Amino acid sequence: SSEGEMNNGSMGNGHMDHDDVVSLIDSTGENELNIPPILKSDSNKGTEYTIRAQKGETEIFDGVQTKTYGYNASFLGPMLQFEKGDTVKINLINELNENTTFHWHGLEVPGNDDGGPHNVLEPGEESTIEFEVTQEAATLWFHPHPEGKTSEQVYNGLAGLIYIEDQNSKNLELPSEYGENDIPLVFQDKVFNDEKQLNYKAIANEDGTVGDTSLINGTLNPKLTVDKEKVRLRLLNGSNARNYTFKLNTGDSFVQVATDGGFLNEPVSMEEITLTPSERAEIIIDFSKVDGNENIALMNEDGATLLPFEITDQTGKNMDIPDEMNDFSVTEEEKNLPVTKEIELFGMMDHVTINGKKFDPERIDFTQEQGVTEVWEIYNKPDMMGGMIHPFHIHGAQFKILSRNGEAPAENERGWKDSFSVAPDETVKIAIQFKNKGIYMFHCHILEHEDNGMMGQVKVE
Ligand code: C2O
Ligand code: CU
Ligand code: CU
Repeated sequence: SSEGEMNNGSMGNGHMDHDDVVSLIDSTGENELNIPPILKSDSNKGTEYTIRAQKGETEIFDGVQTKTYGYNASFLGPMLQFEKGDTVKINLINELNENTTFHWHGLEVPGNDDGGPHNVLEPGEESTIEFEVTQEAATLWFHPHPEGKTSEQVYNGLAGLIYIEDQNSKNLELPSEYGENDIPLVFQDKVFNDEKQLNYKAIANEDGTVGDTSLINGTLNPKLTVDKEKVRLRLLNGSNARNYTFKLNTGDSFVQVATDGGFLNEPVSMEEITLTPSERAEIIIDFSKVDGNENIALMNEDGATLLPFEITDQTGKNMDIPDEMNDFSVTEEEKNLPVTKEIELFGMMDHVTINGKKFDPERIDFTQEQGVTEVWEIYNKPDMMGGMIHPFHIHGAQFKILSRNGEAPAENERGWKDSFSVAPDETVKIAIQFKNKGIYMFHCHILEHEDNGMMGQVKVE
């Protein structure tokens, strides 16, 4: 897209109107998608790991080095594979020239291990955390969370994936060969300047930075080569602010099998799926009957081709997707609980607030008792311009969406969630319980809104 378009779109310093977000440039499909390596444990067995936040240079464009950040790499991070029941020890090292934290998005860990803005590591500092993995199989992720600097650090490349496996996920007959038919897809949009650098400060938008260039797992112009079989895609919207709506260019449907925090009870057939920043979904696309000459691609609703598929003539296993995958339920008791916490999201640009206040690290906004389920009600109050979607996230817990504007949530939201969209004038009710104690953040996951103070703290005791 042209410079003119960029300036009129949402990459200037104006208020981001989500109906008018700059379109993504089509992937030409010339590069095979990068698959993040699985992080090996320090002794090559066992569950002790080392993660370094570091600076580097990455060849995103042929022959050009772009300055980037990464975990154990110059750009982005590895995939951490945990098993339910594991006691995991992670050595954290900050090799950046600035403060950072290591936050485990979606992981149910004690507040001290959560990597929120209180768990700062200064340049050169190290620390070790240890926790037990107590939750079910899911696709989670990790990223930094230093106060006021999250957006820039994530934008520069600090983000990685966490897979949790359990007995159920191992028993289910689902595509599960990592990088073969079980593919992680981290979607991010960037703005590159003429020197092909990410100059965050020059292009940052207070209302959420969006770019015209789509990267998947850090790959520019990616394509994915698949066999004629069912392929599982683990989608993460890892962008600072852009909402993605994924669909196939053929209009064919696919099935969703997992939400942020675990499997759905049964596969849900979908023609498109919207993920706001930080949300995940696992979907399965059936390539088994595709004729190799057919052009199939994953697209965004704005018309951009994100990921063209190249289909080999190899046929893979022809598994049937199980129709029973989990036993998630909302109990009558949970449905009847009174609302005990009310949250009002409001504002735009740097005037964003929660319940009329900006984040204050010294202020505890709410308390909640460990192991006790409460109902929170989140309302997005429109402003004079109509308002915008805020993706709302709470640390340290997977929770249940009870209703949206009084109605039951869509079938594909009837599973564990840690983030969800809240449209202007929408009210979302959730039932949430914290397994551990500590101080946890809740915030808008448009990272510039978070950095601008659209964040609060709940103390679990
Ligand atoms: Cu993705 Cu406060 O986190
Ligand atoms: Cu989080
Ligand atoms: Cu927001």
